[in-house]
Amino acid sequence: MSNPGTVSAVKGFRDVLPDESRRWRVLEDAAESVFGRYGFGEVRLPVLERTELFARSLGETTDIVEKEMYSFADRDETLVTLRPEATAGVVRAYLEGGLVQADPTARLFYRGPMFRRERPQRGRYRQFYQIGVEVLGRDDALVDAELLVMLDRYLTEVGTRDVRLELNSLGDATCRPVYRERLREFGTAHLAALCPDCHRRLEKNPLRILDCKVEGCRRVVADAPVMLDSLCAACRTHFDEVRRLLDQEGIAYGVNPRLVRGLDYYCRTAFELIGAGLGAQNAVGGGGRYDGLVAALGGPDVPGVGFALGVERLAMVTPGAEAVAAGPMAVVLPLDARGVGPALRIATRLRDQHVAVGLEPAGRSLKALLRAADRRRARLAVIIGDDELQAGRATVRDLARHEDRRHALPLDAPGPELATAVRALAEGGS
Ligand code: HAM
Repeated sequence: MSNPGTVSAVKGFRDVLPDESRRWRVLEDAAESVFGRYGFGEVRLPVLERTELFARSLGETTDIVEKEMYSFADRDETLVTLRPEATAGVVRAYLEGGLVQADPTARLFYRGPMFRRERPQRGRYRQFYQIGVEVLGRDDALVDAELLVMLDRYLTEVGTRDVRLELNSLGDATCRPVYRERLREFGTAHLAALCPDCHRRLEKNPLRILDCKVEGCRRVVADAPVMLDSLCAACRTHFDEVRRLLDQEGIAYGVNPRLVRGLDYYCRTAFELIGAGLGAQNAVGGGGRYDGLVAALGGPDVPGVGFALGVERLAMVTPGAEAVAAGPMAVVLPLDARGVGPALRIATRLRDQHVAVGLEPAGRSLKALLRAADRRRARLAVIIGDDELQAGRATVRDLARHEDRRHALPLDAPGPELATAVRALAEGGS
């Protein structure tokens, strides 16, 4: 029976507890260091933006804008939205922060929560986390390839397994309109087999029928013409160059002509990182080029390209990040009230010396205290009982070897001396 006194989290929102957040830290720290080598600096953006930002950038007929945004009128009637993704916010910051004038080529990296009101299931949450990068001001194939090499190196560094890269080109303002018409004709010829939503999509934005989840529609679009066959010469050259550079660097990928992204701002290069064992929610990350986005948000004609990884899903395919955290080096155990002061003293001196130390409350049996130290996965227990107080020296037990060193640690020694002694004992010395 549920306790009427507790309040649960909102559906689709979850807590990231220390064991999990420690694993995430590994993924985030590696991102900072690998992306740093490629010249990326971190931006920290607000999670709340004007609704207009997303309405103007993600595409009015996308699932996200149509039904998944957490939008509301603020108390002053400003329409605001919890960000469903960060690319639009990065571009806003790039324009608003004046980066565009200082140096139009910017390399920005971010991490943080995103919000989409999707149906929650394994690997899909309403608040989830992304690690992402954006390059503004470059339209050359080199930078697309460079990003994918960086992604490959990052995944290798953190030990991600069983993922594959899928690549496509979505054309540009020259060739996409032509393709859009071909697709509309195709859809119109198969109207009876398409869902009502797709009828609407055919009118407004035919490309979205490629993304429909309804089984009947999926069967129809399996035979639809693909963008890759309609690329203009410039898009074809760009795509071929990206591929040539990836091949040169030995980056494995598959061309998937049916790959479409769930956001409308993409053009040319589009890609997804697919996790083999992840089931329905198998996209670990995705990205691509968005050359019209900066202008659509009121800025100059500046191209962009980037990607974002879903941290929850990335953690699922990265066994290295599963490593159990090491416990503290030592746990200090005062047997009764008289040991409390000396215990706090030792713990504080050791922590001042950057030794991770646990501290248990007094008043339990030695057995119970040792069990507590074991649960914390500590290497050593520092025991302070009557005998130790009299001798002025704590007894240290090696919890792995079940060996006691009676009176090994002077209670009043200065921090550095304590730390040296504890480190030596933890190594198995005296
Ligand atoms: P996206 O494909 O919408 O792209 O999201 C990127 C990744 O975020 C997905 O591949 C997935 O791993 C994760 N993700 C998305 N929705 C959820 C969810 N409900 N629960 C858990 N994880 C989720 C973007 O957001 C673009 N802004 C990426 C980008 C950056 N393109 C260019 N630059």
